[in-house]
Amino acid sequence: MGIDNLLDGVQVASIVCNQWGDTGKGKFSDYFSEWADVIARGTGGNNAGHTVVVNGEKRVFHLLPAGIVYDSDGKSNILGKGMVIDPKVLSQEMDEILDTGKTINNLMVSRDAHVILDYHIKQDKARYESQSNGGVGSTGRGIGPCYSDKISRRGIRMFEFLDKDILASKISKVKDFYPNQKIDIEKIVEESRPFASRLSHFVRNTDAEMQNFLREGKKVLLEGAQGFLISVEHGTYPYVTPSDCSINGTANGVGISSRRIDLPLGIVKFPFMTRVGGGPFPTELGGIKSEKYCGESGHELQKELEANGINFMGPGEWIKYDSFHPRILKMIKSEDSFVRGVGMRLAAGEYGATTGRPRRIGWTDAVALKYAVGINGPLMILTKADCYSDKGDFEVCYGYDTPNGPTSEFRTDEDFLRSVKPQNKVYEGYGNIGDVRNFNDLPKSLRESIGDLEKFTGGNVAMVSVGAERDATIIR
Ligand code: IMP
Repeated sequence: MGIDNLLDGVQVASIVCNQWGDTGKGKFSDYFSEWADVIARGTGGNNAGHTVVVNGEKRVFHLLPAGIVYDSDGKSNILGKGMVIDPKVLSQEMDEILDTGKTINNLMVSRDAHVILDYHIKQDKARYESQSNGGVGSTGRGIGPCYSDKISRRGIRMFEFLDKDILASKISKVKDFYPNQKIDIEKIVEESRPFASRLSHFVRNTDAEMQNFLREGKKVLLEGAQGFLISVEHGTYPYVTPSDCSINGTANGVGISSRRIDLPLGIVKFPFMTRVGGGPFPTELGGIKSEKYCGESGHELQKELEANGINFMGPGEWIKYDSFHPRILKMIKSEDSFVRGVGMRLAAGEYGATTGRPRRIGWTDAVALKYAVGINGPLMILTKADCYSDKGDFEVCYGYDTPNGPTSEFRTDEDFLRSVKPQNKVYEGYGNIGDVRNFNDLPKSLRESIGDLEKFTGGNVAMVSVGAERDATIIR
């Protein structure tokens, strides 16, 4: 089936992640942005990060939706009311787009989105929040404190931020909730004015705009952020991000009902998955050792390459190295699962786009996925399978052994998830799949594992990504 068949009769499509985030949403947001007239984000803030290629140059955006690179083609980009927005970061990203010669005329920022201010960032970076102290290991961008203020009914919304008197009065009421900080209201208000005046041109009632777009028959793409398993509603609480990044939260965050979504797509890394930050991860290679190691600083990509004696070109953000380096392949074949995890991280380049942190690696967990499919819907896009080409046997988890016997039911609590032993099925490795474009041409063991995954989760694999480029995609 081609993309036209998949999109036939579709007005609203959504792309959300069915795991712990970082599943390669960027490629598919870009893919579907070409089709859409309107691209909207509804949750999170600059804790997200996606890499896009603009005029041959790689850039990382944290707030702007992937569709912004098509802005000059008349597409509208919406930052919805469910988001938390750091005005400084948004302004920097707008400059980045303008630098490329593109426009930002069609950007709309919800008047009801909450605003991240300096005291949120300071609070988020405080020591007790850090992963090495047993915390969630947030991205340190002020996301948690800003959402806390929102839920506690003392948050500051974009339209309030624009007015200096309202802003000053709102901060004076919030101040006492940050007793460890010296909050200088006048300074914050003054320093924020240039951003307020710049953003004021883009601030709208985006809920009303969205309803108009729907009435006019415009094609809409909802771009999810983070991942289902770190959703505050559905994830492994308290090791979660403070927004609901499920399909429902994403739709709420742009002011529409999830019933309006005709094509709900959930992204799934396969046959391995990743997590950044602290929290349980039953299939993690290297278990608690890997969790601790990835939570310490000093294991970013360049450091990990140096530590393992692998040559690279760089330094900087876009380090190049041979992902088939004999040392990496040897690590992946290791009996020691921690070492195997490091090898897989290097082979697949699994380092955070926002923080540069090493991502924790484990086999795809079909138990957790079945839970995600139950909420986000059955249609799945598999990503990253090409990164495991020529790497040997692989595994998928189809059940947990628990102290009370086997189960195939996911539960979100830490004690449970840390007590289970994953029951994995082992499949034969597969060769290069980068050039495959028909599902039936995929290697037998991969097709068999996908069939098992569909049967177990009740989902359907609609697309398989076999490389970073847009055309390296199989549509089933
Ligand atoms: P926060 O969203 O910065 O509050 O971080 C809370 C948790 O969510 C931490 O474990 C982060 O590593 C994780 N997290 C936040 N954003 C992302 C993302 O975009 N991808 C993956 N993990 C994320």
